[in-house]
Amino acid sequence: METKILKIQDIKKDVENITLAAEIIKGGGLVAMPTETVYGLFANALNGAAVSKIFKAKGRPQDNPLIVHIEAFDDIYRLAKEVPEKAVSLARAFWPGPLTLVLPKKDVVPQEISRGLDTVAIRMPLHEIARAVIKKSGLPLAAPSANISGFPSPTAVQHVIDDMTGRIDAIVDGGESSVGIESTVLSLAGDTPLLLRPGSITQDDIESIIGEITLAKSILSPMAHNEKAQSPGMKHRHYAPRADIAVIDASYDEYVEYINKHKAKGVFALCFVGQEKDLPVKAVTMGYENDSLSQANRLFDAFRELDALGAKRVYALCPSRQGIGLAVCNRLFRAASFEILKPR
Ligand code: TXA
Ligand code: MG
Repeated sequence: METKILKIQDIKKDVENITLAAEIIKGGGLVAMPTETVYGLFANALNGAAVSKIFKAKGRPQDNPLIVHIEAFDDIYRLAKEVPEKAVSLARAFWPGPLTLVLPKKDVVPQEISRGLDTVAIRMPLHEIARAVIKKSGLPLAAPSANISGFPSPTAVQHVIDDMTGRIDAIVDGGESSVGIESTVLSLAGDTPLLLRPGSITQDDIESIIGEITLAKSILSPMAHNEKAQSPGMKHRHYAPRADIAVIDASYDEYVEYINKHKAKGVFALCFVGQEKDLPVKAVTMGYENDSLSQANRLFDAFRELDALGAKRVYALCPSRQGIGLAVCNRLFRAASFEILKPR
C-alpha cells in the first residue's frame, strides 16, 4: 500500500490536507496524525471493519481495546450509556486534554473497539490538527498510538514513518507531540474511580476535582499470572526498545559506581541531562533530573535513539515516582520488564 504524507503546518492554510485526511477516514481508511500526547493511528470508530485494520497494521493483541476520540463534549452521550457527575466535572476541568475516561458503553460502539468489555474509553484531544480532522469527519475516531505494537509510542512524524510506511493510507506530518507520553486513563465504570494508566494529568490533579481515587496495582508492578487485567493494555510487553533495559534504583553516586563495574561493549546509560559526562559508557539522556515533565517528553524518543545507536544493554537511573514521575516510571519499568536493581 502506498502511504501518503500530508503536511499540515497551519490548520487554516492547509485545509486541503485536513479535508483529505477526513475523507480517507470516512472511506474506511487509516490515517496517523499527531495529538498532544503521541501520534495516533485513526479510523472511524463506528466502522468495525475499519477498526480491525488498526489491529492488523500495528500487530496489536486482539484483546486490547481502543480509545475513542471526540471533538465536542456532547459526543460523549453518543458513546457512553451512563455519564456520571464525576465524568462531567473531570471533562470540564481537563478536556480538551490528555485524560481518557472509561465509561459503560452504548451498543453503537462496536466490539472491534471494546474487545469484549462492556465499557468504552473516551478522550477529547487538545491538538488542533487532531481536533480539526475529527470535526471535519463528523465521526468519533478510534486511535491507539501509531507505533508497531510493543515498540515505543511515536512522538515525532519520523517515528511513524519508520513504523507505519506501507501499512496505512496516510501520515500527517504535523510536528512533534508536546507531552510525549500517552494520556492518563481513569475508569469511572466501577464503584470507585480507578487510575489504570498514569499520564501528565496526575493523581493529584484528578483528586483535586473528584476526591480520592484508587491506583491500579499494575501501574508499578508486574501482573501476576493468574491476575485479571483491569486494563488489558497493562498485560502486554510495552514501550520497549530492542535493547535490554535495567533500572538502577539508587543514588547518582551508586549508579556511577554500578556502571563502572558493568561497563562492556553495547552497554549504554540512560540518565539525566548533565550526568553523561561522569559516565564511562555512552549515554542517552531523558530530560532533567528534577523535571518529570521533561522526562515524559524525552523518554520514548530516548528509547528510539538507543536502538539507533545499537545499544544492547541499558542501565537507566531511576526517576522520581512523584507527580508526572509516576507515568515516567510506569513506562520505564515496563520497558525494563520490571528489572529494577538496588545495588547496595
Ligand atoms: O494519549 C493517548 O491515549 C494516545 C493518543 C493517540 O490518544 N492513545 C493511546 O492508545 O495511547 P493506546 O491504544 O496505545 O492505549 C490505550 C490504553 C490501553 O492500555 C488500553 O488497554 C486502555 O487504554 N483501554 C482502552 N479501552 C479500555 C477500556 N474500555 N477499559 C480499560 N482500558 C481500556
Ligand atoms: Mg500504545
